[in-house]
Amino acid sequence: MPALVVVGAQWGDEGKGKATDQLGSQVDYVVKFNGGNNAGHTVVIDGEKYALHLLPSGILSPGVTPVIGNGVVIDIEVLYQELDALESRGVDTSKLLISGSAHVIPSYNRAMDKVTERFLGKRRIGTTGRGIGPTYSDKINRVGIRVWDLFDEKILRAKVEGALEQKNHLLVKVYNRREVLVEEIVQELLALAERLRPMVHDTALVLNKALDEGKTVLFEGGQATMLDIDHGTYPFVTSSNATSGGVCTGSGVGPTRINRVIGVIKAYTTRVGEGPFPTELFDEMGIHLQKTGGEFGVTTGRARRCGWYDAVVARYASRVNGLTDLVLTKLDVLTGIEEIPVCVAYDVDGVRYDEMPTDQSAYHHAKPIYEYFPGWTEDIYGVQKFEDLPKNAQAYVLALEGISGCRISSIGTGPGREHTIVRHELVD
Ligand code: GDP
Ligand code: IMO
Ligand code: MG
Repeated sequence: MPALVVVGAQWGDEGKGKATDQLGSQVDYVVKFNGGNNAGHTVVIDGEKYALHLLPSGILSPGVTPVIGNGVVIDIEVLYQELDALESRGVDTSKLLISGSAHVIPSYNRAMDKVTERFLGKRRIGTTGRGIGPTYSDKINRVGIRVWDLFDEKILRAKVEGALEQKNHLLVKVYNRREVLVEEIVQELLALAERLRPMVHDTALVLNKALDEGKTVLFEGGQATMLDIDHGTYPFVTSSNATSGGVCTGSGVGPTRINRVIGVIKAYTTRVGEGPFPTELFDEMGIHLQKTGGEFGVTTGRARRCGWYDAVVARYASRVNGLTDLVLTKLDVLTGIEEIPVCVAYDVDGVRYDEMPTDQSAYHHAKPIYEYFPGWTEDIYGVQKFEDLPKNAQAYVLALEGISGCRISSIGTGPGREHTIVRHELVD
């Protein structure tokens, strides 16, 4: 019955796709439970690069059944584009299961996302512009469109009418945009319905039965702890629960069934979009990390902001997710740096904080308190054994383990499946 969870421990792009892919041969199902095509996961197999957005990374493992759970928001056109692109590269996508209770991103919500950001001006979030926030808002406001609705034209029309009633007032009177016509949206969605139908299932039932039968299920988080709507740096967050709690609501699998929660964390930190980031670097070292780490977004192509490892964030992620293991990625990127600073606590207006301040004003004032670790110059790209790392790299990893609230079970030394050091097996 093992169910394991992979979540991001920082602000996203930690390497969750690679971590999930690596476990692919040991699991039966890989389930996406939150977010949508705001995610961008890169997986490198035998030197070939795959970029996944809406599909779970497990789709690249032949034995795996990929599942899109009820907590995901689906842009159906993007889904088809992604499926077609993978099929054309010889990936079998026929096993994909989609929850009928997942919400659909209608085209008007992509427009809403962009227009809202424009109106926020200086207060903008820096969203991916994929309609994620407006679609989750509709879900909570109870005017969302779910996958099931696409198969009943009458219900679909009534729901689109309901959703657009308020939205058109906003679009026309506040945002100065043209009115969205109900019929246009209904036809747009109906045209997409047929291909979807065979993929749609009661995925909560499928997953619970699979666990009853002793199958292994892996839940793959999109975004990350610090972008979680409840536990992240609100309001500079995404609109879903990206922490392990989101697994249960986003899939219909209860917490008692989960036995491993794996947090993926970079050996330094990055963030895309706006919002506080205490260890951010504004100097040449930031540019060095960006270049060496290839820190450019998979979804929007934006340059990622870069900074040092933040152990306060790591401890917080360990706590709010109940992490059992950390997967440390991109250690190879730090090669050649003479002395590596690690943030161990914050100074907030003269007061030391060892734990994450939950008050937004305090967090915006947080200054990192650093400890410094000696670097290494030996090339560690592709190293597969901990003992083969230079002593200083070993000491850096052990130091991070000591202050991050969780054991480090695996270490990434390159983007490929094989560029990994395994210290503790992640699947029992
Ligand atoms: P995700 O969104 O968490 O799946 O992460 P992304 O795919 O957006 O970003 C992580 C990037 O780092 C990708 O380009 C990966 O191929 C790459 N990557 C993952 N692990 C490692 C590692 O250990 N070393 C190096 N050099 N690159 C890595
Ligand atoms: P993966 O799964 C990094 C960020 C956006 C923005 C904020 C809200 O690849 O780690 P949204 O479009 O979700 O409303 O944007 O969240 N963001 C991500 N940053 N990685 C991601 O996904 C992200 N998904 C959203 O940049 O700041
Ligand atoms: Mg990413």
